[in-house]
Parts: sequence; C-alpha cells; structure tokens
Amino acid sequence: MSKSSLSVTDNRTGKQYEIPIQNGTIRAVDLRQIKVADDQAGLLTYDPGFLNTASCRSAITFIDGEKGILRYRGYPIEQLAERSTFLETAYLLLHGELPSAADLDAWVHGVTHHTIVHESIKKFIDGFHHDAHPMGMFVSTVAALSTFYPEAKHIAEERSRRNQIFRLIAKTPTLAAFAYRHSVGMPYAYPDNDLSYAGNFLNMMFKATEVKYVPNKALERALDVLFILHADHEQNCSTSTIRGVGSSHSDPYSAMAAAAAALYGPLHGGANEEVLRMLREIGSKDKIPAYLERVKRGEFRLFGFGHRIYKNYDPRAKIIKRIAEEVFDVTGKNPLIDIAVELERIALQEDYFVTRKLYPNVDFYSGIIYEAMKFPLDMFPVLFAIGRTPGWLAQWQEMLLDKEQKIARPQQIYAGPDQRDYVPIEARR
Ligand code: CMC
Repeated sequence: MSKSSLSVTDNRTGKQYEIPIQNGTIRAVDLRQIKVADDQAGLLTYDPGFLNTASCRSAITFIDGEKGILRYRGYPIEQLAERSTFLETAYLLLHGELPSAADLDAWVHGVTHHTIVHESIKKFIDGFHHDAHPMGMFVSTVAALSTFYPEAKHIAEERSRRNQIFRLIAKTPTLAAFAYRHSVGMPYAYPDNDLSYAGNFLNMMFKATEVKYVPNKALERALDVLFILHADHEQNCSTSTIRGVGSSHSDPYSAMAAAAAALYGPLHGGANEEVLRMLREIGSKDKIPAYLERVKRGEFRLFGFGHRIYKNYDPRAKIIKRIAEEVFDVTGKNPLIDIAVELERIALQEDYFVTRKLYPNVDFYSGIIYEAMKFPLDMFPVLFAIGRTPGWLAQWQEMLLDKEQKIARPQQIYAGPDQRDYVPIEARR
C-alpha cells in the first residue's frame, strides 16, 4: 500500500478505498467511486466559500498565512517593494522571471504606448451620472473595451492574448482617471508618455492648467509600491472570478470586468474605502474601546482586519505602514493614522481578535495614504484594481494554458422540493 494515500472506509457499505495524496491534496473526483449503489452519484465534497478546496495549480504567488509570508514567483514581497517597480513586477507575474534590461525596456515601451483609449470611451463615461461611483464606471468601461477589440476573443492565440494584456495594463489607469475627472467635472487629462506608470496616473488624475504635470517623486514611488503590493494575491474572490469567467473562454476584458466587480465588494477590495469611513466615524482615540465593544458584540466588523489566509500580520500591511510615514513627510500627516495605530494596538490585545487571529490586512492603512495623496474615498477600490490587473491577467493566462482546467462548474446539494405537479393559478391558495 502506498504511504501517500488516504484509506477510507465507507461505513454505509463497509467498503474500503485508497485515495492517492499528492501535494497534500486528494482529488475530489477520486471520491466519486465511493457510492452506496452503482446507479447512485458518488460522494461529493461540500465547501461553501471554498474554505478547503484548491481549484488550480499555480506557480504565480505563494502565501504562508500562518507565518505572514507573501512571494511573487518566489521573490519576497518585501524585496520587490524595496527594489522593483510595478511594471517590472507585472512582467515577473506574467512571464515567471524578472526581465533582462532589454526585455524590460520593450515591456515598458509596450505598456506606455497603449495608454490612450478610443475617444468613444469618453462618451460612455460622459453618460454616467455626476455622482456615479468610479468603480461602477471602471467595471463598465473595462467591459466596454471588449467591443473595441473584437479580436480579443481569440484567446487561444498567444499574440492576441499579449496585445490585450498590454492594453489592459496600460489602459486601466486611463479609465480610472477619466472616471474620477468625470465625477469632479474636470476635463479629461490625456496620458503623458514621458512619465512613469504611476507618474502618468497622477498626471491624468490631478493635472490642472499647467502645461506639463510634474509628479512628486516620493508620492510617485509610494504609489508604485502600493501597486506592487496589490499586484497579486493568489486565489482570492476576484482572481477566482477571472478564472471562473475566463474558463468559459470569454474575452479578457469581459472576464476582467467581472473580476473588478468582485473586487468592488466591501469584504474584498472595497474594504479600504470602508476603513476610512470607520476611522472617521470613530473620530478620536478615546472612542476606540466603545467601538471595539460593538464589534465584539457582533454589531459589525472591523474593516481592514482579518483575512481568510493570513492568521498573522499581513506582510503588505507592514510595508504600507512604513510607506505612510514617507508619504506624510510630503503631504503632512493624515490625523486618521493616529486613530488607526491606536485601534490596531488595542485590538491586538483583545482576546476576541487574538483568539480569532485577526490582524490588520492590506486595506487597513492603504486608504489613509491614498487620502493623504488627495485621492477621494470612492477611488480607493479603483486603485486596488489598477494594481491587481497584472495579477488577474497572469492568473487568467495560467488558467488558459493549464491542460487540466475545464469550464468552472461546481456541483450543488439540491435542497428544494421533490417533483410536484403544476397547479393552475385559480387553484392556488
Ligand atoms: N471584525 C470582527 N470580527 C471578524 C472580522 C472582522 N474584521 N473578520 C472576521 N471576524 C470574526 C468572524 O465574526 C468570525 O467569528 P466567529 O468565529 O465568532 O463567528 C471569525 O472571525 C472568522 O471569520 P470568517 O468570516 O469566518 O472569516 P473569513 O475567512 O470567511 O473572512 C474576511 C475573511 C476578510 C472576509 C473577514 O475577515 C472580514 O470580513 N474582514 C473585514 C473586511 C476586510 O477587511 N476585507 C479585506 C480583506 S484583505 C484585502 C482583500 O484581499 O480583499
């Protein structure tokens, strides 16, 4: 008997089964052979929220949630945040290796020269109400891009995939900035190809009447690092969404719009926006204990706390806390940081948070920085989406090239009524 296997006895039948174990995993389909009668369906696993189900093999991102470790393609997030750039990290995620100098030049040039969007995209954005949430505009315009690039549906062609990847990484900041400018009634600012990825985004967001926008170097670097920290996070809700939607072979714009829609939720990428609302509601340090009591009573959750995978400090939150200081040197301190630091200090001493292993996550401090940089609250999830774009695309491509992948189609446990006859309306009670 192989040692790398699981012996299962089905007490309903007394039959025994050997299920192979590989990489600490059993294949769910191996359970199908376990059945009471030949004409019955085999055993299923039931896993709402995928708490204990691996849906793919992936070579992109490694997380050890107990130890608080995050690596992209093997490289620790701390090293990438210190030494890489967002576009280099995007290349790494998509290609598996750090680029040579020539490859990086070509990559940056390719992204930089795809930043302009079709003029008609502006008409879509113009059609939104002035107070439309920028994330709603972002999701819609990302989806709309598929109508401008119909060849994107040729997902099996490497060249087509590559073109759409360039376009999506290049155009997401443009769409995001245009959504913002629409919401504040400012004319759209076009991309400036002389600037870096983050610098150009700041230009499209904040350029006023000056002929040439010059981004502040420290803020430009801080934003670039924030994008690196958000670039991928293995099989989270939005990444599972792009894989799931992409598994039906829809084009990458439609699949990424779905991922962005998943990110929008307050339990995922919308949490950074909620953190700021929460800190403003708390208002001052002396109100923290009473606020935490309400959290412990289950009235609401502490936003920016807790994670499905991290049962230790989120390594991204540590780096973000450090960046906050660098940003405040330029912008002046955001007073909310004092409330956040105190909230963290008190929460991490409370039994409720300690026993549940609830630590600050990436969203806890990011919003405070964004606010100091003058990004409005409702842009926070959009900033998350810009950073996450290369990760989504890397995961989408990996899924397409994985021969084991099939259309995503979970099973269910049917819990509805048994067969019954249609009742004419006049006979219904
Ligand atoms: N505040 C208070 N209690 C919490 C929190 C929180 N933020 N998060 C989890 N808990 C409690 C929860 O009530 C439960 O307690 P009990 O066992 O007594 O019922 C226990 O901790 C386990 O929670 P869970 O809901 O089973 O955990 P999950 O893995 O399904 O949820 C989460 C993960 C991130 C959705 C959750 O921690 C949460 O809602 N956090 C607040 C929203 C947030 O900050 N989201 C951003 C996540 S990081 C960025 C990203 O990837 O999007």
